[in-house]
Formats: sequence, C-alpha cells, structure tokens
Amino acid sequence: MTNPNELALDHSNIDTILVLDFGSQYTQLIARRIRELDVFSVILPWDISKERIIELDPKGIILSGGPESVTNSNTPRVPEIVFNLDIPILGICYGMQTLAEQFGGQVTASKTKEFGHAAITIQKTSLLFDGLSPGSSIDVWMSHGDHVTTLPDKFNLIASTPSAPIATMEHSQKPIYALQFHPEVTHTKDGNIILENFIFKICDCLAQWKMSNLIEQRIIAIKKRVGDKKVLLGLSGGVDSSVTAMLLDRAIGKNLICMFVDNGLLRKNEAEEVESLFREKMDLNLLVVDAKKIFHRHLKGVSDPEQKRKVIGRTFIDIFDNESAKLKDDINFLAQGTIYPDVIESSESESKEARVIKSHHNVGGLPDDMKMELVEPLRDLFKDEVRKMGAELGLPREMLNRHPFPGPGLGVRILGEITPEKVITLQNADAIFIEELIKADLYHQVSQAFCAYLPVKSVGVVGDERRYADVIAIRAVETVDFMTATWAKLPYEFLALVSNRIVNEIEEISRVVYDISSKPPATIEWE
Ligand code: XMP
Repeated sequence: MTNPNELALDHSNIDTILVLDFGSQYTQLIARRIRELDVFSVILPWDISKERIIELDPKGIILSGGPESVTNSNTPRVPEIVFNLDIPILGICYGMQTLAEQFGGQVTASKTKEFGHAAITIQKTSLLFDGLSPGSSIDVWMSHGDHVTTLPDKFNLIASTPSAPIATMEHSQKPIYALQFHPEVTHTKDGNIILENFIFKICDCLAQWKMSNLIEQRIIAIKKRVGDKKVLLGLSGGVDSSVTAMLLDRAIGKNLICMFVDNGLLRKNEAEEVESLFREKMDLNLLVVDAKKIFHRHLKGVSDPEQKRKVIGRTFIDIFDNESAKLKDDINFLAQGTIYPDVIESSESESKEARVIKSHHNVGGLPDDMKMELVEPLRDLFKDEVRKMGAELGLPREMLNRHPFPGPGLGVRILGEITPEKVITLQNADAIFIEELIKADLYHQVSQAFCAYLPVKSVGVVGDERRYADVIAIRAVETVDFMTATWAKLPYEFLALVSNRIVNEIEEISRVVYDISSKPPATIEWE
C-alpha cells in the first residue's frame, strides 16, 4: 500500500503552523482555529521525530496543553529541535509550564485546580496582545492545576490574574511566548486576536489555506495520482464518503465507481434518496447493491449487541468483496472518506509507522492481501472543512448537516433480535420524530436525534381497543464531540406531539418513552 499522504496537497509551498500535542482536550481546537484564519496547521504528538518536524518546515510551533504535571519527573518536554529551528513558539497551559521549566523558571502544583472564567490584566505591551491595550483586562478561559511561580531568565511578565500572577510571559530576545489560559476556546473573548497576532504578526504566515484553492489543487493531485485507472468507493450516504465521491467525480468522472450497499438497516427511504441524488441528479457512476435479504438472514437469531455489530461488519465486507470482484474492470484504487480526526485518533500508531484503518469505517478491516491502493483525499481536513468543501461541490445542505448515523445503522437501535418488520416499524417512528423536529426548528438545535425500538410488551388503549405492543424510545442529545453528551431538554408539548403521532400512526407500538440519560454513564446509541 502506498502512502496515502501522497494524495494530499503538496504542503511544502504553503505556510504551516505545527501544533505539538501534549494531550489536551483542546488540541484539535487550536488547529481548527488556525485553519479558520486560512492558515494550514498540523497536529503531531510531542514526541514525534526530529526529521518529521524538519520535513514539515513550520513557520511557527504551538505547544498544546496537557493533563500531566511538569512537577513530576518523566512527563513530556519540548524536544530540543523546536528551539533549534529558531522559529516562533507559543506555549499554552502545559505548553507554557514546560517552557518555563525548560528555561529555568519554576512551576508549582496548586492545591486547587482552576477551571473556568478568569480576568487577566495586561501588564506590558507585547506583539502577542497587539490591539489590546496595556492595563486592560480580558476575559479568558483557564483550565489548569499547576502554574508558573518564577519567571525563567530572559522572560518578561506580560499579563497576570490574581490566581496566576504569571499568566503570560515572553522571551526578551526570541519570539517565544506562553499563555496560562486557552486562547483557542471561545470563552476567551479576544482569543482570536491573540492567535491572529501570533500567526500573522509573529510568524508572518500568509493566508493560503482557502477552500476554493483546495478543491482545485486536490483535483489536480487526484488526476496525477490516479491517471486513467479506476477507483472504487464505498458510499454510505454520510458526509465524508459523499464529499469524497463528489471530489473524485470532479477529478476522474466515470472512472470512479461508487458502491452503495443497502443493508436493510437504513433510515426510511434512505437507499432511494442516495440513489436519486447521486445517480439521477449528479450522474455519478453508482452501483446499488440490494443486500437486505442477506443481512437479515445473517442476523436471524442474533441478539447480543457485539455479536450483531460483528455480523453486520463481516457481512458488509463479504458483500463489498464479492461485488467488487464481479466488476470486470481492473480496479487499482480504493477510496475512503477518512478525515483528519480519524488520523489524529490513530496517530499514536501512525508515529510507529503502522497504518490503522478507521475501525468503524464502512469498509471495515481491509484484507491484508488487498491489491488496491488507498485514496483518501480528505485525510487532512476537519469535519467543518469537509462540510465547506461539500457545499462548494454542490452537495445539498440537508445532506451536509444531517445528524451522524452509525455504520451498523438501525441494527444498534433495535434491541435484541432484528427482524425486517421491526426495521419498518422503527423507520416509521424515526421518520415521524425527525419530521417533527425539522418542522419545529429543533433539528439543528440538537446534535443527534433518533428512535430506538424496545421489544418490551406493554398494554395500551387506542380508540376502543386494547393494544399489547412494543415500546419506542425517543433519544435526542446535545454534544460537541460525541464523547460526552447531555440529553436534550425538548419541550413537553413537542414530545407529546411526537408521542401521539407515533402511537396513533404505528399499530405495532403502544407506548413512547423519552430517554433522559446523559453520556456518561449511558452511551448515545442504545447498543
Ligand atoms: P455512543 O453510542 O458510543 O456513540 O455514545 C457515539 C457516536 O458514535 C456513533 N456510533 C457509531 N458510528 N459505527 C459508527 O459509524 C458504530 O458502530 C457506531 N456506534 C456508535 C453514534 O451514533 C454517536 O454519534
């Protein structure tokens, strides 16, 4: 397999900011903020090799926060190469503390941790705070245990707060800056000004990371790599694979073969919608495989959640393999909609040179003897950049902003054994819920919403008749990263409307419940 990075834009001519990751929950946010300023940025683990850093040739380096304490031995430190490059450095939180320690200052563990809003007072003019007046106070977001108590030699104090007297410091001769607070978090009111100053005034970066350039450059890169060979793409209808399809279509047209597998576990009308959009409206070379019966046959009698996932994953791979073998054309490339957060998540292994394919990706575990080379044109893009690209390529808004849908589909939303009848019932209930959310302008106020099918019999009365049937659970959550989530406080009247419609319109259901569990301890999906 060749290195998929080859397909990415040639970054060598574009100003780049390197974010060295010390493990903060905000690291990705730093890189995103920089890219929002149209400057390319890359995240690498703090212990990445010297060669990788030199090869990247960054215009500046940001040291992220992290969960460790520099007061303990054997905690991460900034590699020497960072100082030897003689380029601007900005340390944030842990990044500041390790800078202070490495330059001979002192860091002390605080008894109480400080999380939340604080007001810093600017004590001295600094290019980093250009546009913000000395003596003024700005609202910032703090999240730290330790703080710097003695300035290192040659460093000046720039700003302070009552609990962190050294909240910002700057080297007197070199462009090295450090902040105890988080400029990347929106709660820091002037955070963007600080990042802009660092990137444009201190690092002298040019704003070259623009979406319109990006699409054109990517198309050229795909053409160059693929030539007149054929590419196969597993299209799921999700944002990432759809944008990958559109981009490849623009680059190589009919030499892209998109395969959409209908596993019988999709949302109501989803297969028809994907077909109508990509084949009829967009004229893509789309192959729809109706595998509903095979999936249901394999799932018969399976009720354990993990077992169901395994069966669904394995069946998908079998079908994908069989169907691609049937294609008479020799296919040289397999395209995947891998995006930057997937790459970062597996970056630990990446730094050890192992390639990890996103485990929940539709193409799943690819066979070891796979002859096709991988094409991953979104590999260095964040989700919001993928959406922006999709919008420019003409993907409909509803598709780009749709809630996420799990690979195993309704399979993890029907508790216990899956039957085609239960799938139809759940599809209908879910369609009612989503339709009402959209009508009430609530769809985009929640991060993910769906119905789950609970095979629990309960008694109801509909009209004059007794009904003894199953239960539908409604789930709606608010979240930023899907790692934690809170249940959405949807209005009672709205819930009443949805519940009424489901029980009245779907005979197989006698009761509707609203899931008020947050994550943790619950997960978003029911299985
Ligand atoms: P949980 O249930 O783990 O879900 O809190 C977090 C997010 O991940 C989605 N999810 C999946 N996505 N394959 C996927 O592609 C899966 O097997 C899978 N399981 C959960 C879920 O919908 C939510 O957005």
